[in-house]
Amino acid sequence: MRTPIIAGNWKMNKTVSQAVELCRKLESALQDSPVEVVVCPPFTALSAVFALGLTKVKLGAQNMYHADKGAYTGEISPVMLKDVGCQYVILGHSERRQYFKEDDELVAAKAAKALEYGIKPIICVGESIDQRRAGQTAEVVVSQTKGALAKVQPDQVTDVVIAYEPIWAIGTGETSTGDDANEVIGTIRATIAELFGEEKAGQVRIQYGGSVKPENISEFMNQPEIDGALVGGASLAADDFINIVQYK
Ligand code: 13P
Repeated sequence: MRTPIIAGNWKMNKTVSQAVELCRKLESALQDSPVEVVVCPPFTALSAVFALGLTKVKLGAQNMYHADKGAYTGEISPVMLKDVGCQYVILGHSERRQYFKEDDELVAAKAAKALEYGIKPIICVGESIDQRRAGQTAEVVVSQTKGALAKVQPDQVTDVVIAYEPIWAIGTGETSTGDDANEVIGTIRATIAELFGEEKAGQVRIQYGGSVKPENISEFMNQPEIDGALVGGASLAADDFINIVQYK
């Protein structure tokens, strides 16, 4: 059985005090649930959130550099993320691929480095609207999945989380249908099985992301292949995120 995982990607939002306030609300309102809940605040708020000692919410970062330390101005290492309590790190988000020119090779290096430090990578894959219209969705996610997992060892792959985020559904209010996302996620799982075997692939958690809201979360969570969600905008408001995590 795969434990569902719902993560909030706050992107470039929230000051330290706003982050602390939101996390306090989540901690007090969330019931014990079978869902693993993760928040990924900006780097600047991680240490203050870690200091809250949250028990219902785990901490993740939104990016990481693939070196232990050194002359990489502006970057953050896995050592630093561990130091502030991060158990997860989002890697290869489409915004990083688009604005910061991250490619599969870089994502692979980052994923391997995160795993070396026991940080679980949430690796994002997903097609653009043009790729979808051209019928290339499966081809794109298969190639991104293979690329990102290129340096992952067989004994590490079950610590990887994949987030299928169709780019056209991010921040647009448009979503994939549950059936459609389920099919693409099935393709991603088959790709992992090809690389690491059926048994391991059956343990890897794969999320859907893209305009997930309290109103549509259950459509995705009820699908057999979908193990959770990566939530952007709706993770910034305590009530929305709580309703998503406690979907019926
Ligand atoms: P939205 O939920 O705002 O569409 O963002 C999705 C996303 O990019 C999460 O990583």
